[in-house]
Amino acid sequence: MCGIVAYSGYNEAYPILINGLRRLEYRGYDSAGVALMQDGKITLYKKRGKVSDLDEFCADKNTESHVGIAHTRWATHGEPSEENAHPHLSEDGSIALIHNGIVENYVSLKQELQRIGYTFKSETDTEVLVHLIKDVQAKENLPLADAVMLALTRVEGTYALAILSTDNPDQLIVAKKGSPLLIGVGKNEYFIGSDGAPIVEYTKKVVYLEDGDVAVVTPKKPLVIRNINDEEHLRKRPYFQKLEMSLDQLEKGGFETYMLKEIFEQPKAITDSMRGRINLKKDVVSLGGIIEYESKMMNAKRFIIAACGTSWHAGLVAEYLFESLIRVPVEVEYASEFRYRNPIIHEDDVLIAISQSGETADTLAAVELAKRHGATVIGICNVVGSTLARETMAGSYTHAGPEIGVASTKAFTAQVTVLALMALSLAHKTGTISRSQYHQLVNDLESIPDKIEMVLKQEQFIQKIAQFVATRPNAIFLGRGVNYPVALEGALKLKEISYIHAEGYPAAEMKHGPIALIDEHMPVIVVATEQQTYDKVVSNIQEVIARKGTVISVVTEGDTTVKNMSKFCIEIPHTEELLTPLVATVPLQILAYHVALIRGCNVDRPRNLAKSVSVE
Ligand code: AGP
Ligand code: GLU
Repeated sequence: MCGIVAYSGYNEAYPILINGLRRLEYRGYDSAGVALMQDGKITLYKKRGKVSDLDEFCADKNTESHVGIAHTRWATHGEPSEENAHPHLSEDGSIALIHNGIVENYVSLKQELQRIGYTFKSETDTEVLVHLIKDVQAKENLPLADAVMLALTRVEGTYALAILSTDNPDQLIVAKKGSPLLIGVGKNEYFIGSDGAPIVEYTKKVVYLEDGDVAVVTPKKPLVIRNINDEEHLRKRPYFQKLEMSLDQLEKGGFETYMLKEIFEQPKAITDSMRGRINLKKDVVSLGGIIEYESKMMNAKRFIIAACGTSWHAGLVAEYLFESLIRVPVEVEYASEFRYRNPIIHEDDVLIAISQSGETADTLAAVELAKRHGATVIGICNVVGSTLARETMAGSYTHAGPEIGVASTKAFTAQVTVLALMALSLAHKTGTISRSQYHQLVNDLESIPDKIEMVLKQEQFIQKIAQFVATRPNAIFLGRGVNYPVALEGALKLKEISYIHAEGYPAAEMKHGPIALIDEHMPVIVVATEQQTYDKVVSNIQEVIARKGTVISVVTEGDTTVKNMSKFCIEIPHTEELLTPLVATVPLQILAYHVALIRGCNVDRPRNLAKSVSVE
């Protein structure tokens, strides 16, 4: 999620705030805003678009102030627009609030607040927070900080908050749960940031807030930090740390590149893509964005999945998920082919368009074609308010957060997660899977982030394998069943960032030609995890070895059979077969990443590639 900057002290606030937002631009965003305390009143400036647009807009405005809050938004609820941009104001203009994260229960909170007369100006989940805090403060007659603590006990989801109030014009109130927030301690001044980037040039003395913390920040006074999980709300002793990182490192969250950061963000991205979609009792999976079209999807005679590149690979995984769980035929189409081959499309078809950017021209064209034929068109996208989000009848956001690296990683695993949720929800509602199977799969899905964390710990080992692969001009990736799309995705990652020629094949296909390529120079990466056709994969590996091919394998931990046949073997935790792609893809992403680094390639911006192919 996006960027928070706040300041209170004796310096001019605006330059610190706008400079801080620029330092956070790397996180990706769609709008920006600032609230300034001026003579005891709050002045608000916000714009859709870039930080530079906001700064230009403010150029002829009065921005004099010593206290302020500023935000870059990555929309999760509500289109990117001026109205939905942060900060959000209370009805009486006495409180301004900025938020990073997702309020999972905002619908019920919003309905409750509307029932008692609160009016909303935006479509965001965030706006409920400012009215809820105001309502609690009025009803309980509490100081603002206490009202914030009480209000936050009713909030489910994640937040990093900064609040400005006319009650105490030089004071900031900040709170954290699930989204990062830290306080920079200056001499009679305080700096707030989502990470160290907007702070490090002013001070290196920081306090990293912990989940549940609510801090009152007042210049010339010590920090007052309490935690909503402490029933007595006792003051916590601030734990001061030294900000060690350089500015450049900070902009990538301490990672060397955006791609590595995004590979390591996958546990959080998958958690966020499930957030609010599996109820607490875990017996209902629901995707709010498609509820209106659920009956159309439950009665679909066929699903057509249209996408490009990595998103097309996610669609291939969905073919196994949907046909296995919902027992309805699925066709996965390259959108670029589908749009021109005059396909047969019926009104009882459902087309699912998958796109990280939501701007891929071929995928958008497939959507238009399906709509013209009267099919139901659903979108799965990572960018709120993108063209795909607006052109489809309904859909689900992946909530993976901005993906800056051109090679898609966390967006892929978030797409597969949302597709798994969709398949589970439909299978449960149509009764094509038993209740016990449903529960088991929901639990398996919820265990995926931890399993990926275990794979990420093997980065150094995989780096050694990369030393070997980096010397080879070619590579072949093999997989069967639901691991076949994993092989394709692994090959695409390797070729698009290291420029090594790599191909992915269904393992059994080797016999039909590609095996002619096998010799002692050809690395063959085989995804050989536990699955129904495991023994067949083992046979395919023997065929490769018989021709002196070098095998690198991805196996389920504890598998010594394939391990003993491999030059290198990466073990991943046992995973339900249908969900294996979520875990087995990760070592292949890391492998491609390190091969590309060894070969001196620009992993964030590979040659010839664009992050969003909005042309044909
Ligand atoms: C993925 O690593 C590539 N950058 C590319 O194949 C990408 O997946 C494809 O262009 C589709 O993009 P989209 O998901 O934004 O539609
Ligand atoms: N969920 C909030 C919104 O959509 C905050 C998004 C963010 O973290 O930028 O406005």
